[in-house]
Amino acid sequence: MNWSESTRRAFLKQFGAAGAMALAASRAEAAQQIVPPAGPASADEKQAATRDQRMQWWHEAKFGMFIHWGLYSVIGQHEWAKEVEGVPISQYEILAKHFHPKPNAARDWARLAKRAGQRYMVMTTKHHEGFCNFATELTDYNAAQQGPGRDLVAEFVEAARAEGLRVGFYYSLMDWHHPDGALCKTDEAARRRFVDYTHGLIRELMTNYGKIDVLWYDVAWPLDAEEWESEKMNAMVFELQPDIIVNNRNLLPGDFSTPEQHIQAAEAGRAWETCMTLNESWGFNRGDDAWKTPKEIVGNLATCANGGGNYLLNIGPMPDGSVPPESVRILSEAGAWLDINGKAVYGTDRCQGGGNVNVIYTRRGNTLYLHQHFWPNHTPAAEWLDFYKPEAVVAIGGLKAKALSARLLKTGQNVEFTQDGDFTLRLTGLPLVAPDQPATVIEVECDSEPVVDHDAERPLWPRLKVGISD
Ligand code: GLC
Repeated sequence: MNWSESTRRAFLKQFGAAGAMALAASRAEAAQQIVPPAGPASADEKQAATRDQRMQWWHEAKFGMFIHWGLYSVIGQHEWAKEVEGVPISQYEILAKHFHPKPNAARDWARLAKRAGQRYMVMTTKHHEGFCNFATELTDYNAAQQGPGRDLVAEFVEAARAEGLRVGFYYSLMDWHHPDGALCKTDEAARRRFVDYTHGLIRELMTNYGKIDVLWYDVAWPLDAEEWESEKMNAMVFELQPDIIVNNRNLLPGDFSTPEQHIQAAEAGRAWETCMTLNESWGFNRGDDAWKTPKEIVGNLATCANGGGNYLLNIGPMPDGSVPPESVRILSEAGAWLDINGKAVYGTDRCQGGGNVNVIYTRRGNTLYLHQHFWPNHTPAAEWLDFYKPEAVVAIGGLKAKALSARLLKTGQNVEFTQDGDFTLRLTGLPLVAPDQPATVIEVECDSEPVVDHDAERPLWPRLKVGISD
C-alpha cells in the first residue's frame, strides 16, 4: 500500500477521532496491518498512483492534432531552418518582427481537428528556436511583445476548449536563442540561470491558462535529467496541474513514450503515442510535397490503436496561421471515415495479432474490427456469371475465438460467415467493390477475446505427405 498523505487522511477520516484514539491504544496490532514506508512517496510513485485515472480520457481519445508554429513558419523551410541553414541569431531575430498571424487562426485549427475526429491538440509553445508563442515575464522574445502583439498560446487554448478538445503544450527544453542554452553544459552558473529560466517558463505555462491536459517536453540537449532537475520540474508541474499527463522527453519516464515518425508499441501496460508529420516536415515547409495519403493516415491510426497507442498527427500552419490546403483535405477525409468507423478506433483495447498486408485489426473487449484497406477482388470472368455468384470473401486464419455475428460498419449490413474448427473465419457474400474507403471495417463479435495467432496455429495445420508417387 502506498501511504500517501491522502491515504493517511482517508484512513483517519474513516476511523474518526475516537477511532484514532482506539487505534493508538492498539497501535501494536494496527502496525501489523499497515506499515507506512519510512520516507514520502517519490514524485514518480505519486504519478503512478493516479496514472490510470489521469489517462483515461487520453486512452479513449486515440487521435490528436500536433501543431508546429513559430518564427520558422515565416521562413517556410522546416522548423530546423535556423540550425541547418546556419542562420545567425541577429538575422533570425528579425523574423519575430515579421510574424503577423491573422487573428484567431487557432479557431480554424480547432474546427479542423474536430472535423478530423481528433480529440486533443498539442501546440508548440516554444520550439528549439527559443521564441515564446506566449506572453512571459522572463524574456521579451515572445509573441505578445514582438510581431504578433498578442498571446498566441492563449488563443490556442481558447479555441481548443471552444471545440471541446483537450489542450496540450509542447515545450522544447533545447533552446538555440538563450545565451546559456549551450553554455549550461560546462558552466555551473549558466546552468543555474538556464534551469531557473526553463522552470520559470514552464511554471508560467502551467499557471496562466487554466487546466492543461498534456505537457509535451521535447529535446533535452545538452543536459541530463539531473542537470535539468527534471524531478523537480515534474513535481512543480503536478503541483500546479494535478490531472496533467506528461511525456518522457525531459528524460524521466513520465506517463507515456513518444516514438517519432514510426509506429512502435511500448511493452504492455506502458502508454505510448506515435507523433508523425503529414508530409516530411513539422514546421511549414513550402517545398515539401511528400504528403501522406488518407489511406496511410487511417491505416496508421488503426495500427496505433491495434497496439493500444495514440496517434498525434501534425499540421504546420503557414505564417499567417492558415493550414496548408493538402493538410485540410487529408484530415477532412480521415474525419469523414472516422464519422462512420470511429467505433473501431476510439476507446479500443490493445489487440493480440496485428493483421496482414490487407487488413489491420483493432479490438474492443470481445469484438474484433477488421480494417480492410485492400479489398479482396474476386471478379469472375463474364462467362462464369451464370453459375457463379459474384462475391468477395474475407478470411482470417488463426482466430482463437468463435465468431457470433458480423456486420459492415459502413452500411450496418450483416455479413454471413463460416468458421472451420479453430482455424479460419470466412466472411462471405461481401460486395465486390469495397463498400468504404480508405478502409472498410467489418465488426466481428466473438465469444471471447479475439486473438489472431498464426504462430500457434502453424504447427497444428494438417500436412500432406510429400514424396514421389510411383
Ligand atoms: C524532434 C524535432 C522537432 C519536432 C519533434 C516532434 O524532436 O527536433 O523539430 O518538434 O521532434 O516530435
